[in-house]
Amino acid sequence: MTRLSARALTLAYEDRVVVDGLDLAVPDGKVTVIVGPNACGKSTTLRPLGRLLKPRSGAVLLDGAALSSLPTRQIAQTIGLLPQSPVAREAITVGDLVARGRQPHQHWWQQWSKEDERAVTDAMARTSVSDLADRPVDELSGGQRQRVWIAMALAQDTDLLLLDEPTTFLDIAHQVEVLDLVRRLNHDRGRTVVAVLHDLNQAARYADHLIAMKAGRVVAEGPPSEVVTAELVHEVFGLASIVIPDPVTGSPLVPQSTPITAPVSGSGCASTWTTKDAYQWPRVSL
Ligand SMILES: Nc1ncnc2c1ncn2[C@@H]1O[C@H](COP(=O)(O)OP(=O)(O)O)[C@@H](O)[C@H]1O
Ligand SMILES: [Mg+2]
Repeated sequence: MTRLSARALTLAYEDRVVVDGLDLAVPDGKVTVIVGPNACGKSTTLRPLGRLLKPRSGAVLLDGAALSSLPTRQIAQTIGLLPQSPVAREAITVGDLVARGRQPHQHWWQQWSKEDERAVTDAMARTSVSDLADRPVDELSGGQRQRVWIAMALAQDTDLLLLDEPTTFLDIAHQVEVLDLVRRLNHDRGRTVVAVLHDLNQAARYADHLIAMKAGRVVAEGPPSEVVTAELVHEVFGLASIVIPDPVTGSPLVPQSTPITAPVSGSGCASTWTTKDAYQWPRVSL
């Protein structure tokens, strides 16, 4: 089953086509992660799933209906989207910004409910921003601000959550905190998540379903253990690599510094290692 899917999606900016005829099915109740090199079209693919970009042709379907035909309020109650570079209105406080996540749930006869209060308090606690509630968002560090945006998306309390590089600006501890939070939301509350991540190893750790993109196309998709191979890393990132099991999780791990020289057996000296040689290194079985 898939509540959110895209059919024959063509996405363009003015006359520049970035994605052409893409089909996508977001697996329900799973964490899907999109990876790929800079400018390959990851954000461009995510935006129309949250109706932030109108497809040039094709359609995004939510529960079988074209997203373009659904009321904004219904979409906002179902899909939360955290864009890659969100911009806050000047001088808005953290508490007010997170509370904005509740707008789709409010009614003219009831501006603010106990449920709204609970969702905001919970979202702020989960992202460790409760202490920042009264601070203006534009005075925060990049990492603090990123967590506030994530809190706003959580407060929206949607079944589907789309996150474009949610770990940008975060130090390693906060990256892990956010990704664990995403996992917990998925595990405890059955949330369907689609995230763009630029770190392939983090993607392989946290994804149930991995989508590798290159030049606006899906090159491979499936469980990380099947998708992440040295061949794929070479094809998608143009990088010579090996793939080993992550010692902590067993998910595929691509060590990020691949030696450019390797000993040649018998000769006792190092020879230059070409991309082609490295790429043919045997993959360690998982
Ligand atoms: N708002 C925009 N207007 C024009 N071109 C854009 C816009 N956003 C992205 N692009 C272009 O579309 C291509 C894909 O960008 P993007 O989807 O942001 O890549 P990624 O998220 O994979 O880094 C890039 O060439 C980028 O320059
Ligand atoms: Mg992007």
